[in-house]
Order: sequence, then structure tokens, then C-alpha cells
Amino acid sequence: MASTAERGTWGSRAGFILAAAGSAVGLGNIWGFPTQVGQGGGAVFVLIYLLCVLLICLPIMVAELVIGRHAQLAPVGAFDAISPNTRWWLVGVLGVLAGAGILSFYSVIAGWSVAYIWFAGTGALTGDAETVEAFFATFTANGPLSIALTLVILGTTATVLVGGVQSGIERVTKLMMPALIVLLLVLAIRAVTLPGAAEGLAYYLRPDFSRLFDPTVINAALGQAFFSLSLGMGAMLTYGSYLGKQESIVTAACWVVALDTAMALLAGFIIFPSGFSIEGFDPSASGPGLIFAVLPRLFATLPGGQLFGAAFFILLTIAALTSTISLLEVPVAHFIDVHKWPRPKAVLLVTTVVFLIAIPSALANGAVGFFSTLPGFGTDFLSLMVVIWNNFALPIGGLLTAVFVGWVWRVDRAIEEVELHGSPFPGRALWSVLIRWVCPAAIAAIIVSAIVSM
Ligand code: PFF
Repeated sequence: MASTAERGTWGSRAGFILAAAGSAVGLGNIWGFPTQVGQGGGAVFVLIYLLCVLLICLPIMVAELVIGRHAQLAPVGAFDAISPNTRWWLVGVLGVLAGAGILSFYSVIAGWSVAYIWFAGTGALTGDAETVEAFFATFTANGPLSIALTLVILGTTATVLVGGVQSGIERVTKLMMPALIVLLLVLAIRAVTLPGAAEGLAYYLRPDFSRLFDPTVINAALGQAFFSLSLGMGAMLTYGSYLGKQESIVTAACWVVALDTAMALLAGFIIFPSGFSIEGFDPSASGPGLIFAVLPRLFATLPGGQLFGAAFFILLTIAALTSTISLLEVPVAHFIDVHKWPRPKAVLLVTTVVFLIAIPSALANGAVGFFSTLPGFGTDFLSLMVVIWNNFALPIGGLLTAVFVGWVWRVDRAIEEVELHGSPFPGRALWSVLIRWVCPAAIAAIIVSAIVSM
């Protein structure tokens, strides 16, 4: 096992929080959250999402960080080190697969964001709502262009990973995160003051309780929470393995969760008021194109809108890249740690495989009919990937992590690790109950009922 000194640790607690938040904050907050709220019926989705974050994801965030810091290894090695001669390392393998699967569709959307920097900056996104929507449809139906943009994202991510990570991520995130927060705040203030914004706010904030027990909505909210917080696939576990023993895991977890959730909620305050200010807007009909169809209309209402638009998509692309880096690092670290591959070989091989899996997603928005309306599934390939990885693979990874910490490694040992920095674990009794009983039972119930209601 490499010692902490060889593996490197974070420069400071703020550095760690920024890097973990850099992984968490990304397309999941700004593209995924509004899309899912739109498809999940508005405020009721937001309510269920917040419950999932607090009761299920926050305890699991602590669990992943604890396992990582204790074992000082990437997921497969970490499960194996804590519980040798068992099959628990397979949870790490599930994370490796999820990392590749998520990255495959994630890099397609991130590629769209890259193109939109250019489109927004050059004034290509002007016109009425229909024109802007038609522009998006024509753009995404261009298969070779989508594939090329996906390659740009994967190539950039791979280049960063070959060169080593920590200092780069810390530095970039330190600048990007505050800039993104400020820009989102400005956009939210503009959006809520648009004519028609009240209807959007009501949609976003006033729950329709009739859908509170809809298993599909609950499953989507749970999946979105895992996806947004980078949980259930060992990414946070890996970050935890770089966390110094003197740091408070609980404080770090709370910060990351709070930042990530605030960014997602803020994105909703931008998209729904601006969406509803457009006549005939139907949030559930837009699917993955929601933000790309709505935001240009918002930029057009701002002085210097082109500049705002370009700045927004630049920041969104950087936010996406700090996430793609952590997505790719999980499978790459696996091949380095377990199969002893040199880093460049691991990066090249994993990136190539991810690129091949990404092609159908890049062709799923009109370029190829088969992938755009998968016969028998009633959805396109990219949206199917979201369901498979986010709604099922990540929560299952989280469930197994909770069972592992709660029942195999056992909570008292985990609590001992949490308290290594010298002060007691606040809420340790509550965390023990959540991680042993509430998280596994709730996730299992949600997954089973979602499958039954399919
Ligand atoms: N949390 C990222 C986002 O919200 O965009 C996506 C992600 C990154 C998921 C890393 C999982 C992961 F391991």
C-alpha cells in the first residue's frame, strides 16, 4: 500500500472541500436537476429530493469518506483491505462500471456545453423560443459534430488525468466555484423578476402532493441525489482517501452536501421562472434539452446577454470537467492499483472504452432514429443510460456501502476513524441508526417499488 505521503493529501481543508465540491457540482446540478424536476412534476420532486439528500445521501457521504480515509486506497482495494477474503471488493467494481457508464453520457452533454460557448458568444442563439428550440434540435441531430465534441471533453479529461490531479483540480475549482455561484445568483435574480416568473416559482415551490408516493418520481429523486453528490460509485471514497487524519469528516461532508444542494436549487430558480415566462412552455416535454432551450431566452433579456451566455457555458464546461475528472479517475485508479498498469496506459484504455460507449448517446438526439427512440423502451439511449446508472447503479452502490459500514466493518470502528481528528462525532447515534437501518431499508424499498411499477 502506498503511504499517505506518496499518494499526496489535500493542501488544506478548504482545498479538499473545493475539490470534492468540484466533483459534486457539475452538469448534475445545472442540467440534471432542472431536467428531473421538469419530468418529476415540479415542487414535489424537489421535496423528495431534499429528503433523500438529508436522510440517505449525507450519511452515505460520511460513510464513503470514512472508508476512504481509513483504507487510504481506491474503492476496490479499500473494500478488500477492510474486509479481506470476502466478495465486498465487488462493490468497488460496480463503481468502476458506473464511472465509465456515467462518463459516457456525461461527456456528450458536456460537449454540447462547449459548443454553446461559441453559439452564445457569437449571437447564434437569438430569436424567439421556437427558433432557439429548433436550433438545439438541429445541432444535436448532427451526429459527427456531437461525437467530435464528446471527444474534446474526453480528450481534455484524459490529458489532465495523465498529468496528475490534485493541484490542478484545487486551483481550477478555487476560481471556478465562486465565479459560478456569482453568475448563478445574477441569473436567478434576473429570472425571478421576469414577467410570468410567478407561475414558474409556483411550479418549483408548491408541491402537488398527489405525486408524493409515485415510485418513479421517488426513484428518480433518489438517483438524482446520488448522481449530483457523486455518491454510490466510490468517487467520494477516493477523495476521502486523500483526506488528512486531522480533518473533520463530518464538517467536510456537510459542506460538500450544502454547496452542491444550494447550486442545484439555484439552477431551479433560474430555469423555471425563465421557462414559464415563455408562452406555451411545458417543463416535462423538453427532456435533456431543457436548459439549452430555456437559457438563451434568459440571456437575451440581459444587457450584454451574449457575454453572459458565453461566460455561463464556459463555467458550466469547467464545472463539468472537474466532475469528468473524478468520474474517469475511479476506473483509472482501479487499473493502476489492482492491475498495476502504468497511468498513461490505464487512462488511454479506459478513455477509449468510454468513448465507444458514448457514441450511441451522442447519436440519441435525432442523429440516428434507432438510438433516439429506442424501440420497446419508449425513450432515447441517453435517457436510458441516465435511468440505468443514476437511478439504479448508484443507489445500489450506496446501499451496499451502507450495509458494509453498518454491519460488516461496523459502526463503532467507523466512528473511531471519524473521531481521529480529536473531537467527538456530532450526531453519532443518529448516524448509526441512519446508516444501519434507514439507508439500506429506504433504498431497497425505493428500488423494488420502482421495478415493480415499471
Ligand atoms: N456529481 C456530478 C454532477 O452533479 O455533475 C456527476 C458525478 C461526478 C457523478 C462524479 C458521480 C461521480 F462519481
